[in-house]
Amino acid sequence: MSRLIVVSNRVPDVAKGPPPGGLAVALESALELHGGVWMGWSGKSSGAKEPGPLSFHEHGRITFALSDLSRRDLSEYYAGFANSVLWPLCHYRLDLTDYARKDMAGYFRVNRFFAERLRPLVQPDDLIWIHDYHLIPIASELRRLGVENRIGFFMHIPWPPPDVFFTLPVHEAIISGLTAYDVVGFQTGHDVDNFASGLRREGIGGDVGGRWFEAYGRRFRAGAFPISIATRHFADMASEAMNTAAVRRFAESLEGRDLIIGVDRLDYSKGLTHRIDGYEKFLTANPAYHGRTTMLQVTPKSRTEVPGYTAMQREVAERAGHVNGSLGRLDWVPIRYVNRAIAQNVLAGLYRLARVGLITPLRDGMNLVAKEFVAAQDPDDPGVLVLSRFAGAARELDGALLVNPYDIEAVGNAIAQGLSMPREARRERFSPMMKRLLEYDISRWCSDFLAELSG
Ligand code: F6P
Repeated sequence: MSRLIVVSNRVPDVAKGPPPGGLAVALESALELHGGVWMGWSGKSSGAKEPGPLSFHEHGRITFALSDLSRRDLSEYYAGFANSVLWPLCHYRLDLTDYARKDMAGYFRVNRFFAERLRPLVQPDDLIWIHDYHLIPIASELRRLGVENRIGFFMHIPWPPPDVFFTLPVHEAIISGLTAYDVVGFQTGHDVDNFASGLRREGIGGDVGGRWFEAYGRRFRAGAFPISIATRHFADMASEAMNTAAVRRFAESLEGRDLIIGVDRLDYSKGLTHRIDGYEKFLTANPAYHGRTTMLQVTPKSRTEVPGYTAMQREVAERAGHVNGSLGRLDWVPIRYVNRAIAQNVLAGLYRLARVGLITPLRDGMNLVAKEFVAAQDPDDPGVLVLSRFAGAARELDGALLVNPYDIEAVGNAIAQGLSMPREARRERFSPMMKRLLEYDISRWCSDFLAELSG
């Protein structure tokens, strides 16, 4: 079996115990199985003008190869091009893209840096798997350095349609970077279609049948590999969590009210203000529910170094405060807004307590919270998922109440429908979704991609 090399911007700190989150667990177990290297950013700044040297540590059959990045790298590559250009662009937010030539140069420089550091570690039969929008140019850099190994790429976030993508001044370098891979994986067929139309519109190539594509004289495969979760593990964790003190205390604090839950990183793509407005609409249209529901919105801060994220924190808090101030009573707070991370097992228990999971991103590559919410439910008495039609997960979770998150009244109506849905109807919606998640879990996702990459 070939060794595996994974490169991702963030790398879990295995010294602190098993990594949280299904993706890190799946990649770690694939790496354990194949043996190999996991390279990426250490999460720290080198404090110098240049990135730090690679630091190596072994964990089972995995060699972690991490590097600190300079403050300039972090500002240009991470906060700049990756998160102030590619992130908003891929989430269809042209109004938020902030192009700066120096950030673009920093992005390509850091990618070259990782490729040059990786080159001496590559052995002839290694499979190389690059993750996400931070690192698109790595394959072309490796090819320039003479690497002929099979290299795969997985895009965790959406791929936009041509008219959006071509607003990127360096779109050609990005698209030709993707064509240097042997396999390019997207979350959904919709993303693959957008990518294919982009190639055709530029006249540089297109799909030639099956999953095969041709562009710039290279042949490669591209397809949808919808990422998933460790379904069985998550379901067990949720049912065990019901006996923990934290979940019990929370359940008591509800005093019999129906729980509506939303959990998202603080990000404009998540549609948090629209969601709060939708809940407000639900309450104003359904006075009978006043005092009888609690919405819990858990939103850990993220990317505070990127301009705009801090302002958003204030905006969401203000919206929640407005609803509580105008509709709350002495003995009832309509929204509990928690601005920090909560342990994953506690979250699993909270999902199981909830009558409605309210997951309404304006655009999302997949949204694993939606899948976790389903996996956490009690099969006998499941809650209802209200899900944005613009999340990749909507293509698989067809038992959800799908909503347009921009349509505030529709979101309000879906909450009411979810809360009043009879048990039998809830079970009918839940079962096929759970079946799908059990069949297609994170290990299946990982092995499918690697099977395609192995050729
Ligand atoms: O899903 C997209 C993604 O950028 C992941 O790559 C990343 O781990 C996550 O969002 C959190 O973002 P960040 O690494 O910028 O904190």
